[in-house]
Amino acid sequence: MSEPKKLFIKTYGCQMNVYDSERMSEALGGQGYVETKTPDDADMILLNTCHIREKAAEKVYSELGRFKGLKAEKPDLKIGVAGCVAQAEGEEIMRRQPLVDLVVGPQSYHRLPEMEAKTRAGEKALDTDFPEEDKFEKLKNRPKAKRGPTAFLTVQEGCDKFCAFCVVPYTRGAEVSRPADRIIREAHDLVERGVREITLLGQNVNAYHGAGPDGDMTLAGLIWELNKVDGLERIRFTTSHPNDMADDLIEAHGSCEKLMPYLHLPVQSGSDRILKRMNRSHTAESYLRLIERIRAARPDIVMSGDFIVGFPEETEEDFQATMDLVEEVKYGYAYSFKYSTRPGTPAAERAQVDPAAADDRLQRLQALITRHQREIQDGMVGLTVRVLFEKPGRLPGQMVGKSEYLHSVHVKGTGIAVGDLKEVRITDSGANSLAGELL
Ligand code: SAH
Ligand code: SF4
Ligand code: F3S
Repeated sequence: MSEPKKLFIKTYGCQMNVYDSERMSEALGGQGYVETKTPDDADMILLNTCHIREKAAEKVYSELGRFKGLKAEKPDLKIGVAGCVAQAEGEEIMRRQPLVDLVVGPQSYHRLPEMEAKTRAGEKALDTDFPEEDKFEKLKNRPKAKRGPTAFLTVQEGCDKFCAFCVVPYTRGAEVSRPADRIIREAHDLVERGVREITLLGQNVNAYHGAGPDGDMTLAGLIWELNKVDGLERIRFTTSHPNDMADDLIEAHGSCEKLMPYLHLPVQSGSDRILKRMNRSHTAESYLRLIERIRAARPDIVMSGDFIVGFPEETEEDFQATMDLVEEVKYGYAYSFKYSTRPGTPAAERAQVDPAAADDRLQRLQALITRHQREIQDGMVGLTVRVLFEKPGRLPGQMVGKSEYLHSVHVKGTGIAVGDLKEVRITDSGANSLAGELL
């Protein structure tokens, strides 16, 4: 038997890219590849890229440049670009960086084995199609290796919302839901391999409408099916759009025991004028009423969100409306970004905000978010939470896991194993995590 070839994958961007990198590694496993942790001994390097902001996209080229020496030493080394930059820029990548042998878009990962063979024959391989066949079915021949207690599972991909700032509808394509039975099969498989918590993924996950036994299933319907899977303890999902927050999903947050009390529900801005210009088709008020209903169903739910500051034409008054909304919601987590112009999106053509003003707004928003985040985290002290332990901590004898609210919790104690789910009393709140003791 020949030596296995080594594959180094570096993943940028969102959780779906993390899931996709696992699938690509499995697909190339069939070609005799095993993963390696460093590019230095790799026979193939794959960058799984993100196009969401300019910085993310540009990083790819500087990273590629760093492989020049390696490729000179090792002419057989193949370099590939996958993910959303691959989809958005295609052949342009090979023109700009001749080191690149392979460019594959997110909808074509199941074709990687043939593409790899092509590069071994000395040709360049490019595939950025949106093929008809179900890539997930073609990617399913998985090894039964044991894995950690948490896993991602893509249930929906793509987006039809076309927010005026966003590249996702172009890089991931139209919204597609996977059939429910395949997702449930995959969940069973994950549980058999040691997984206890599954995060369902989709760019617009709550628009899920995959085929079920009695017609299309909603995300809530799918969650209730997964709730029946023995050995699966926790279900999460991300990312949701406010307009697809259906009644049955809100209700599930109140009644489905495995569904965790944490919800990522991006609003982007608190100004109706800007929301309209963003093509978000909800208002600040409708979003706030929605959160009221979610909190009525599950009072202790921790909310999280995304914000863009400095969107074209945003005034100080618009920004103030965002601050007011944040003040009202009080997020347990929130991610805020300075608007980044994305070529080809509608907002790219509009009057840009002065970058210094945008920087200043971002700082103020982040300070407010951090204050709330800290207050909510500090409020956990004295409470009992359930922690799913994921890995050893930095200190000897320490284990780290996540509470149902997604807070990191450090616990000292012997006899805790990775994958244990235990009751913990919170004793202390630090900068980014909680500390507690076993009950
Ligand atoms: N599908 C998810 C996530 C999209 S990308 C959703 O609909 O929410 C994650 C976040 O990146 C977005 O919520 C938005 O806040 C931010 N983002 C997207 N495009 C951006 C841009 N052009 N500039 C700055 N931030 C952006
Ligand atoms: Fe992008 Fe999300 Fe808007 Fe879709 S809903 S266009 S993924 S920000
Ligand atoms: Fe980035 Fe593509 Fe995810 S642009 S955020 S990797 S969907």
